Amino acid sequence: MVPLEGGAGEQLLAIRYRRGSLQLLDQRKLPYESIYSDIKDAVAGWAAISDMVVRGAPAIAIAAALALAVEVESLKPFSGAGLEAVAFLKNRLDYLVSSRPTAVNLAEAATNLLNICQAVADKGDDAEAVYQAYLEAAEKMLAADVASNKAIGAYGAEALLQAKPASGNGMRVLTHCNTGSLATSQYGTALGVIRALHAQGKLETAICTETRPYNQGSRLTAFELVHDKIPAILVADSAAASLQSLGRVDAVVVGADRIAANGDTANKIGTYSLALSAFHHGVPFYVASPLTTIDTATKSGKEIIIEERSPKELTHSHGGQGTQIAADGVGVWNPAFDVTPARLITGIITDQGVITKEGNSDVFDIPSFIARS
Ligand code: MRU
Repeated sequence: MVPLEGGAGEQLLAIRYRRGSLQLLDQRKLPYESIYSDIKDAVAGWAAISDMVVRGAPAIAIAAALALAVEVESLKPFSGAGLEAVAFLKNRLDYLVSSRPTAVNLAEAATNLLNICQAVADKGDDAEAVYQAYLEAAEKMLAADVASNKAIGAYGAEALLQAKPASGNGMRVLTHCNTGSLATSQYGTALGVIRALHAQGKLETAICTETRPYNQGSRLTAFELVHDKIPAILVADSAAASLQSLGRVDAVVVGADRIAANGDTANKIGTYSLALSAFHHGVPFYVASPLTTIDTATKSGKEIIIEERSPKELTHSHGGQGTQIAADGVGVWNPAFDVTPARLITGIITDQGVITKEGNSDVFDIPSFIARS
């Protein structure tokens, strides 16, 4: 296995950016190789997202915005009317949003960026001002994401410790898929909660599921945990219920790709099974995500579009890149995500605090939480 450049102690970064240059760590090659790809425009950004060079809801949004920032920078010297620049940006952002449908972060970021640019053009400013506004707003997303993740980590550690005070050796927290530095700009959401517990000396072990079929858990989360020297064990997805039945899981914390207004949560396929077994065994089950992952326009999980990916991810090893492992001709259903009903979720840990259910309600009143925060 080739170590990351710089060896132990180097910060794990999925996204490297400076004005005019974007590099994405090719996550398809982890943990064997650490190779960064140069992304020069929206077309290359779209392909990197669709092909899983970069993945994870927050990282997808940031990578898309910065891919377009690099393309914008290449247009210098800027000329033309402000409204023409807005039309160009809208065209490129709509295209980028089409790369993966389930995670709301990318669509939400595109709308925000476009609104900022539209406001500049509406004042009568020219293309130069619109493009500058775009660059500044896209670049702010990196730092804002780290701050958001650290807030999630702090709120989440507190919530988990309240739900189950740490025994002598600390908590044993199970997580699914990859929600860490590789899925964000740094630190992570659900993995950020685990990181925060570890920093406070309150984590006995992180338990990561392998996350079939794409193996984000075994290839990426296990790699991050080992890289950052956080005590961890890897389990097969099919072992998680058994581990819970043995009393060896104190809490489950997962990320989210889109949370509906009632709290129903779309996340990596297998999340729903974990929530069912956690509910059955009385294990607290938390979702951790920025508040912006909540899509209040989506009333319940039934309205969430679930991406279906290539059959090859199941019929072949290494996410479809390796050896054939299933018989030729077999039919395949390969949804990338599932929806966990709010009823099974103990709380939603956001960067603005933890959302809980009122009284005996089966759902979350998220619009009221947003109004208060
Ligand atoms: O298909 P992926 O790897 O993009 O799926 C990622 C997940 O489901 C994550 O749990 C989610 O995006 C949250 S990442 C902070």
